[in-house]
Amino acid sequence: MQDKDKNAPLYISTPIYYVNARPHLGHVYSTLYADFIARFHRNQGKKVFFITGCDQYGSKIAAAAQKQGLKPQVFVTKNTAYFLTLWKKLQVSYSHFVQTHDKLHHNFVTESFHQLWKTKAIYFGHYKGLYCVSCENFVTEEKILLINGTESCFFCRRAVTFIKENNYFLSVNQEDRTILKNNLDHWKRTSPGNNWMNQVDDFLQKAVLDFSITRANLKWGIQLPEQFHEQTVYVWFDALLSYISVLNQKEIKQIWKNPNSTVVHILGKEISKFHLIYWPLVLQKLTYQLPKRFVIHGWILENGQKMSKSIGNIVDPDKIIAQYGVNVLRIFVAFLIRPEQDIKYTDTILDDFYRSYLIYNFSNYCYRIASMLKKRPADFTDIHHLQKIFGQEQVVWELKLQRFIDQYLYHFHNFHIGKAVQTIFALLDFANQQVDTLKPWKMKNNDHFNFIFYYFLLVIKIVALFFDPIAPDLSNQLFQFLQIEGKQEFNLQLFWKKPFFINKMIKFFE
Ligand code: MSP
Repeated sequence: MQDKDKNAPLYISTPIYYVNARPHLGHVYSTLYADFIARFHRNQGKKVFFITGCDQYGSKIAAAAQKQGLKPQVFVTKNTAYFLTLWKKLQVSYSHFVQTHDKLHHNFVTESFHQLWKTKAIYFGHYKGLYCVSCENFVTEEKILLINGTESCFFCRRAVTFIKENNYFLSVNQEDRTILKNNLDHWKRTSPGNNWMNQVDDFLQKAVLDFSITRANLKWGIQLPEQFHEQTVYVWFDALLSYISVLNQKEIKQIWKNPNSTVVHILGKEISKFHLIYWPLVLQKLTYQLPKRFVIHGWILENGQKMSKSIGNIVDPDKIIAQYGVNVLRIFVAFLIRPEQDIKYTDTILDDFYRSYLIYNFSNYCYRIASMLKKRPADFTDIHHLQKIFGQEQVVWELKLQRFIDQYLYHFHNFHIGKAVQTIFALLDFANQQVDTLKPWKMKNNDHFNFIFYYFLLVIKIVALFFDPIAPDLSNQLFQFLQIEGKQEFNLQLFWKKPFFINKMIKFFE
């Protein structure tokens, strides 16, 4: 994603999380995915709006609160705090955190509803059909599974309930349908994870699309005024609007009314229908522009199934942090990111990653360089002269390093964070091999020794820059190690070529 207008802001969002339980590794995956992208673009000098938050309403939350014998409000405050605490620990650099129980959000939703009513985009009708409380989703007949004779949701496999009530609907006519189809085709061409969009295509062709946006018998939600039959806003209509309601007027103009801004939504595959059909529909009817990209990702699977509280196969991020620390968890999640796939998690996969990539490859390289320099300090004061002497070698090093940088930037711009992380380790592999081949401990020629150590350290500097959006603390530590102050000039293309001088090595890797 490289924009024509470099000064236009980037808006990136995660879905807002249901607060029926504590966050797990699946939620961390969506959130860090957005954080990596936000940090990367901020480092490139872009103005970034990074939105996340909590989805606090609906039948699912009300039922979970009741189960714990708590008032819904007390329950959501308690559970929202788990998310806030974890994001802080994980250094999630969001600029806005939305809570749908918030007054400003209420006002925005009610005003939007009024506007849609005034423009006759909404009608009052009758709903009859099946509903999955766990997914907060109206399920069409052909998507129902029969499990032990019970009609169940095809996504979460839990029993669905039959609903018959009067609701407000957002209508979808033939023209809307054509526009939605064209948009979908466009996003299919431009979005990572577009393989998950086929199900949305099917839905768009088959289903009656009118979107029920209120509920008659729900108390825990945004209540509409009396003139609207005291209905409650359907949790998805309310949640989607949180992508805008959390912003102030000026920000709305800068983002949702500015054709040069880039709006990117990150989401899991199971909520594609809401984002690729209903959200664009709502935006169009309210005259906001449409998002530029959707980044749709698969699930983290534990034991072959989606990690979720109700299945009971969740991985607690706090446990991983306690054992390995924040840097490792952040790098591991980045390494896992493959938008087009479901991803298997086991403790062994994490531990193998830690050992082979972080210890054997990364730390080992830094340790080797540090300990060799400790025994025999290198002198870079005359690096330009040395580069002349070893001109041919210099060209080879710089071409090679430039290739790694190009690859890394390419993958990041295209949201393939896992591949960007692979590039970091490929660079370290290459550097480790160079150490093995050049055997600096045997080197007699001092000039050559100084020359190659300049490049060995340059590798660490590039790795520090590469790690910056992924594990900012680790990146800072590497900068300290290199005795480079600040990262003001972050532009990777320029910065790595500037000479740098190491005054004294610190004991970081010992
Ligand atoms: N509240 C809605 C989203 C409303 S956005 C306007 C919701 N919440 S959720 O908590 O169920 O899921 C939020 C995000 O977390 C989704 O993108 C979902 O895919 C992601 N994940 C939840 N479990 C996951 C895994 N096991 N693996 C990867 N991501 C998963 O849907």
